[in-house]
Amino acid sequence: MDMAKKFRMNAGIGDASYASNSTLQKTAIKTTKEIIERAIRDFLYKSKEFPEMLSIADFGCSSGPNALLMPSMLIDVVAKISLEMSYKTPEIQINLNDLPSNDFNTTFGLLQEFQEKIIYNIQPPLSCYFTGVPGSFYARVFPANTLHFVYCSYSLHWLSQLPEVGKINKGSINLSSTTPKSVAMAFYEQYHKDFLAFLRCRAEEVVAGGHMILMLAGRRNDDPCFEESNYLFGLLYMVLDKMVAQGLADEEKLHAFNVPVFKASPTEIQNIVEEEGSFKINLLDVSDMKLTEYKISTSDNNEASHTEDVNEGRDLGLAVAMGARATLESLVVDHFGQEIANDAFLRLEKALIDGMSSNMNEAIITTTIFLTKKRDH
Ligand SMILES: C[S@@+](CC[C@H](N)C(=O)[O-])C[C@H]1O[C@@H](n2cnc3c(N)ncnc32)[C@H](O)[C@@H]1O
Repeated sequence: MDMAKKFRMNAGIGDASYASNSTLQKTAIKTTKEIIERAIRDFLYKSKEFPEMLSIADFGCSSGPNALLMPSMLIDVVAKISLEMSYKTPEIQINLNDLPSNDFNTTFGLLQEFQEKIIYNIQPPLSCYFTGVPGSFYARVFPANTLHFVYCSYSLHWLSQLPEVGKINKGSINLSSTTPKSVAMAFYEQYHKDFLAFLRCRAEEVVAGGHMILMLAGRRNDDPCFEESNYLFGLLYMVLDKMVAQGLADEEKLHAFNVPVFKASPTEIQNIVEEEGSFKINLLDVSDMKLTEYKISTSDNNEASHTEDVNEGRDLGLAVAMGARATLESLVVDHFGQEIANDAFLRLEKALIDGMSSNMNEAIITTTIFLTKKRDH
């Protein structure tokens, strides 16, 4: 699949959309408010002159309410610190980046309500301007030395392309205990190239002393094939394999299907940040985001009426399945076609509903990195 042209989270605000099925990511973004405050406080206090304008970028913002969550927390923090320092609040430019295939319009459609509910009520008053910036974050997307703060949540584990691994990763659709070492190495090499490119581009775009908060699906163990946080990919493989056994999907196609995701370990991340050299690591933390954070949202983006019993296996299984579909559907459709994808996601839903009660503790291992652009670069 040509990631830059075709990969996207499910568009719109309907039942299958990313906007309605990303509550786990929403919870994770909320946990970063303290680090956002630390970053902005540090930047404002260390600025020689209090800035008149702050330029912020969210890389891989996707579509829907999550794209406005970091901006709402940041605006709050900027207003609070300006008041504390008795300075006029800076104007804020928020740049929302994602691939060109992303549904930016759904987010733009939420902006008027955001202005009315958040911006007009903030004290002291503050001006905020939004821009959509399409383009891969593995290349330059902003002019040099223009960004003061960078945010990126649940996006940097997506590779720019699937490494050339052919059909030898039988028995898995990502890295697992059955994966040949050569496949694991090819995934790591692609990740190394991509993450290094991301850091090199941001090193040019971020001003000296500017900060980046990156949150991504990761791993604790240094072995990329160690079975950690592999529940969803494992289950999707089993579903597709069963469809092959029943003559509903092609075996060769399944062998050639791999999800272009690499979940890096803290050591791998640290080594690449040090190799690039422009950023200082303030924090590198690994935590679990339990799948129980998935909750079904209604199409008007409010959490659903079934929220009370969402922790029951059935509802949770359904919510996790919808979350997986909203994220992975474009990949599965591109490889197998819409009909097989529909069948596979219904089967995944059933497998998750059947197994959820005994798998409540499954989690997505999440790595949070807080970086500062060094002043001598
Ligand atoms: C799981 S979503 C995360 C969205 C949002 N940040 C959140 O936390 O809810 C991952 C996003 O990363 C975007 N993405 C993946 N690779 C990208 C790239 N090379 N450049 C820009 N965006 C990318 C995808 O299009 C998708 O919208």
